[in-house]
Amino acid sequence: MASRLHSSRLFQTLKTTSSICRLRHLSTATAAAAKESYEDADGISMKGVKISGRPLYLDMQATSPVDPRVLDAMLPYYLSSFGNPHSRTHLYGWESDLAVEKARAQVAALINASPKEIVFTSGATESNNISVKGVMHFYKEKKRHVITTQTEHKCVLDSCRHLQQEGFEVTYLPVGSDGIVDIDLMRSAIRPDTGLVSVMTVNNEIGVIQPIEEIGNICRELGVPFHTDAAQALGKIPVDVEKMNVSLMSLSGHKIYGPKGVGALYMRRRPRIRVEPQMNGGGQERGIRSGTVPTPLVVGMGAACELAMKEMEYDDKRISALQERLLNGVKAKLDGVVVNGSKEKRGEFANGAEGSGSFKWECMHKCKFGALICSKGVGGR
Ligand SMILES: Cc1ncc(COP(=O)(O)O)c(C=O)c1O
Repeated sequence: MASRLHSSRLFQTLKTTSSICRLRHLSTATAAAAKESYEDADGISMKGVKISGRPLYLDMQATSPVDPRVLDAMLPYYLSSFGNPHSRTHLYGWESDLAVEKARAQVAALINASPKEIVFTSGATESNNISVKGVMHFYKEKKRHVITTQTEHKCVLDSCRHLQQEGFEVTYLPVGSDGIVDIDLMRSAIRPDTGLVSVMTVNNEIGVIQPIEEIGNICRELGVPFHTDAAQALGKIPVDVEKMNVSLMSLSGHKIYGPKGVGALYMRRRPRIRVEPQMNGGGQERGIRSGTVPTPLVVGMGAACELAMKEMEYDDKRISALQERLLNGVKAKLDGVVVNGSKEKRGEFANGAEGSGSFKWECMHKCKFGALICSKGVGGR
């Protein structure tokens, strides 16, 4: 089961927004493309599969649709205010620059950071690559060891594999049957040459929340930089870089009703964390991520963060109730339903409701519904 079904705020907005009014804003090319369809009266045919209608989408951990209010904020930066935010000599550049800086402040506010600590990237994948490889490359003369967990997202695991090929050592800590990493094991794995600990905040497959504050405290005490991939946590549970004691945090736009292709990296200023850039070029984003900042996308990410900050608590209550209803409904109809991962250490924000997570059941292969939402895994890929 996806951690977040449909965002209630998005659902409400879609209900209250006139679709006719929105279609008026579509360009002719977009409208033409929208008409081109793989649907007919008999259903949908795609990739050799015929389906009678559009299936219900429950995979919000993989991605979410753009909130119409986010799209509204983005559109002017595609159309009239299209300047390069790095153009210093004219109004078009200045207005884009102002929009980028507003977005930076919106992202920072959601995680209790300073805007100066936010670097825009293309997504959490890039932020994770910069964090894992960038930190180790920067400190390579003295630090040759990384600690992570076996259940990280592939982009963290692959970055670690890459480091191993370069001669670094990596400890992949196991997690318990509840999906949670053992804090004592983590502490005992830290060595004098450990240059980074990287543990995700919320797991993209089963939704469990790792003890980030405790890990952050251990790392601070032992003087080891701590990175967390918070792509699945942002906008879903409260995230506070100060309380969590993190040095680096990876964020993604498209998991929170923002656009795809944009993300951010939080980089602590005090004590300052240093990375070797993975992309060289014009020196944008303080030289950490060269390349023209895509104004519409970062504006969208900023707007999504601001909405999440305002509506997270309400969303969490409503969606947790919906999740419980779904799970109870499935359990009432099927035997052998098992929730994956810890039931307690997830969705703590949900006042005791089960919060995010996934479930499986023994007869899954016989069940169309199970095949639909579970066989490919419900987590983000
Ligand atoms: C935990 C986690 N990390 C990283 C990513 C990659 O994010 P992005 O698509 O922004 O690169 C995802 C989603 O796919 C994710 O769930």
